[in-house]
Amino acid sequence: MRAQALSATGGGALEDIMSITPIGRPGFSQGDGSGHKITTASLREQKLRHEPITCLTAYDYASARLVDEAGIDMVLVGDSLAQTVLGYENTLSVTMDEMLHHVRAVRRGVKHALLVADMPYGSYQVDPKDAIVNATRFVKEGGAEVVKIEGGEKRADLIRQIIDAEIPVAGHIGLTPQSVNVMGGYKVQGKSLAGIEQLMRDAVALDRAGVACLFVEGIPREVAAMITAEVSAPTIGIGAGPECDGQVLVFHDILNLTFGPPAKFVRRYGDAAALITNAVQAFRADVRAHRYPADEESYHLPKETGAGLDEVLSRKRSIRR
Ligand code: KIV
Repeated sequence: MRAQALSATGGGALEDIMSITPIGRPGFSQGDGSGHKITTASLREQKLRHEPITCLTAYDYASARLVDEAGIDMVLVGDSLAQTVLGYENTLSVTMDEMLHHVRAVRRGVKHALLVADMPYGSYQVDPKDAIVNATRFVKEGGAEVVKIEGGEKRADLIRQIIDAEIPVAGHIGLTPQSVNVMGGYKVQGKSLAGIEQLMRDAVALDRAGVACLFVEGIPREVAAMITAEVSAPTIGIGAGPECDGQVLVFHDILNLTFGPPAKFVRRYGDAAALITNAVQAFRADVRAHRYPADEESYHLPKETGAGLDEVLSRKRSIRR
């Protein structure tokens, strides 16, 4: 309506109005200056060179892009997004479609890192055919390069079948959050001799099945060190000590965005909660005090349109009188 009234006065085109700053990728470069694409093969080379592998979770375009441009080797769209992004109590409720939605967003932000998508609970436990279909969707529709599956030796056959479908698989053993009800809570695994033996069997079975890498979560560092020495696949630890070939943490954990006490292994590298709260409070205060927006933050009419508008308004005023 307003645009029509203005053009009727013969004014110039209105300035383009965009609600967000346009985003392209000019001058894209890696934080570490290397800029090379990480692959499953290059991960193995890193293990052989004893060069630590870095991995973080990401769940959306902006965070994925920041993580990628900072030079992180692997980006995991973890099913932890159930809690961190979607507010579920645990990872059991998140669906294939919800995961895919986030994998696609992350894909658009990642150029250099290896992109790993977590197979959610129920997407691979019921039927191997479904598992292959779901893994294929992550590759075809989401652009994932690797899919991650929780569980030890009992998953070895399934992992072989998925790899046969040309999809690299990351294993995940130890504290596997999708087994929370069977484990009776989130408990450190492999603390007994029998537990260590089982973990070693799990690791070797998945290594033989051909996993691209092996996530090891919530196990004593001594056990993680033994696994790392035993398997040819790179081990990526979380709560598994420093001897792993790489380390993964949850993006929201390192930035204090999780609203709860952190686990023992979490190190906070920033306080995004404080940053966001301060920014939001400052915006609110500015709006309430009429300090935002300032004149420099407002669009203005072109001179000739302003003059035309003044004329129209003064004519209207004289008619009203
Ligand atoms: O979902 C996730 O974030 C994970 C990591 C903790 C390994 O699986």
